[in-house]
Amino acid sequence: MIKIFKTKNEILDYRNSKATNLTIGLVPTMGNLHAGHLSLLKNSILENDISIITIFVNPTQFGPNEDFNSYPRTLDHDLTLIEELALKMSSAKEIAVFAPTSNDEIYPENFSTSISIGPLKNILEGKIRPTHFDGVTTVVFKLFHITKPHNAYFGQKDYQQCVIIQKMILDLELPISMHIIPISRNADGLALSSRNQYLTDTEMKMALTLPKTLNAIKDAVLNNRDFLDAINEAKQDPRWDYLEVLDAHTLNDDIENKKDLVIVGAYKINQTRLLDNIVVKNVR
Ligand code: PAF
Repeated sequence: MIKIFKTKNEILDYRNSKATNLTIGLVPTMGNLHAGHLSLLKNSILENDISIITIFVNPTQFGPNEDFNSYPRTLDHDLTLIEELALKMSSAKEIAVFAPTSNDEIYPENFSTSISIGPLKNILEGKIRPTHFDGVTTVVFKLFHITKPHNAYFGQKDYQQCVIIQKMILDLELPISMHIIPISRNADGLALSSRNQYLTDTEMKMALTLPKTLNAIKDAVLNNRDFLDAINEAKQDPRWDYLEVLDAHTLNDDIENKKDLVIVGAYKINQTRLLDNIVVKNVR
């Protein structure tokens, strides 16, 4: 059963009407849903009594010259995909969609607070998009506050976002378990992303450099070869914004003696930036 809410007061009333013994799963999204988002929702449906999926293109996480205005908004299609998933899972569990019709529902006039988690927001994506993570943590905190979930589901593709939200949950002692769901990929291995649709066919092929390079570095890491060679060779291609091997838990670049690593990359094709990563556990 799917319920759709367009205002904050409606979703607050809905949430407050739910018995305290029911578990709530939250799937925050910016819409334009694809199989990656649906796998988050599927996990939430399986693991909770009620799932709330939010669809909100959050203006504060876009920089001034980024794609906020052109970001694909496909609410009707998103709702169809959610219905189809619910039917396919033959689940009788409740699904609520919170899709605010106006930015004022989240950021009323004179809104001026920002949640900022410190140094982690300044590396990798944050170096290139300096205001991005303050926008993400602020909206996610608000969505947590409005929906009061027990479990929250995020995609591994935005790995730094996951680490940052996990840190916010820890620092602010939020009573929420975070679940990071593995990356969904197309048949060629490219991580699914709403921004893939900005790419032409030729650019889609070019984009495969991203997963292929991450896999080559993973092989080097696993076979005790010097992965820096692989990184330096890859970086001859100017499309890389960054390509690094870091501690998977802290994103620190001091990885000596660290067991769990993450290989993160951002690759830019014309105006489209694509992100991907591979986690390699128990390396040592
Ligand atoms: O990952 C996203 O789609 C967004 O950053 C999120 C978490 C929904 C916040 O707007």
